[in-house]
Amino acid sequence: MSMTRTAALRALSPSVAPALPRTAHGAPATVAEIARGLLARQAATSPKYLYDSLGSRLFEAICELPEYYPTRTEAAIFARHGEDIARRVGTGATLIDLGAGNCAKAASLFPLLRPKQYVPIDISRDFLNEAVSRLRQRFPDIAMNALALDLSGPFLLPPEVTPQRRVFFYPGSSIGNFAPHEAIAFLRRVRENASHDGGLLIGVDLIKDAAVLDAAYDDAIGVTAAFNLNMLRHLNHLVGSDFDVRQWRHVAFFNAEDSRVEMHLEARTALTVRWPGGERQFARGERIHTEDSYKYTRDSFADLLAQAGFHADAVWTDEAGWFAVMHARAASA
Ligand code: AVI
Repeated sequence: MSMTRTAALRALSPSVAPALPRTAHGAPATVAEIARGLLARQAATSPKYLYDSLGSRLFEAICELPEYYPTRTEAAIFARHGEDIARRVGTGATLIDLGAGNCAKAASLFPLLRPKQYVPIDISRDFLNEAVSRLRQRFPDIAMNALALDLSGPFLLPPEVTPQRRVFFYPGSSIGNFAPHEAIAFLRRVRENASHDGGLLIGVDLIKDAAVLDAAYDDAIGVTAAFNLNMLRHLNHLVGSDFDVRQWRHVAFFNAEDSRVEMHLEARTALTVRWPGGERQFARGERIHTEDSYKYTRDSFADLLAQAGFHADAVWTDEAGWFAVMHARAASA
């Protein structure tokens, strides 16, 4: 059977396929936000565009890499100090999982924390519903109310979330992907939804040797490079741009002055990127800043929590002091 022209074109590699007109598939506000970032003097994009379906799978692969210590170190802290953590958090709480994804991290703590209600929150309803229906079978005694919410702006938890003993769970050092002032604003919104008797259980990545950090974000087999470069494919889909991934390379390093690992995409050659309604020329070596991952000390993060209206009352770390799990209570106003 002969292939249709479109199928034949699709089968060609991107570098030899004739340029077909591209169209944007993102919402107008998304397209405008991305175009603004690409046209800024220092081109930059939000790290949320790292996560299309391939990007999410690549992130899962990153979590298994020997260089990427945060996932396994945090898991080891929960395994070693789980009982102490449960004593501090208390059983019978309403556990609110911010950015729950497949709910696996929270579920691994259910036997210890024994929450009365579990409220996983994620932007993707379908993904959540699937994960929660599996969990309901395993933990029939825990009431579960999945919420599809975008936490990037103000949010108010609905009345079905029990107003007492609200404990927010934010593992994985995801807080590090916010700049500190954004992290404070986000945690203030969490504080507004917390009960006076509730708390926050949060994973925080700590400052450490730059070589360890550099390797964690630039691994030997190039999974993190693929994760970063995949953003260009995602942008092509969202704004109809013509990024050629082969013309870019992954760059990641610890910026000690700003206490963050930065990820960039660097043009291998002088090039022009075009999209419907815009274009940008990049000189060879010019970069698009794609992600920051802030690292803290225990004290600097406790200080950040205080600025958001929380009081840090317990910290657990691994032996090397690479990662911290912190518990904080809502400070009285
Ligand atoms: C999701 N987030 C906490 C990861 C991090 O470490 O900042 C994202 C990531 N970027 C590169 N590798 C992992």
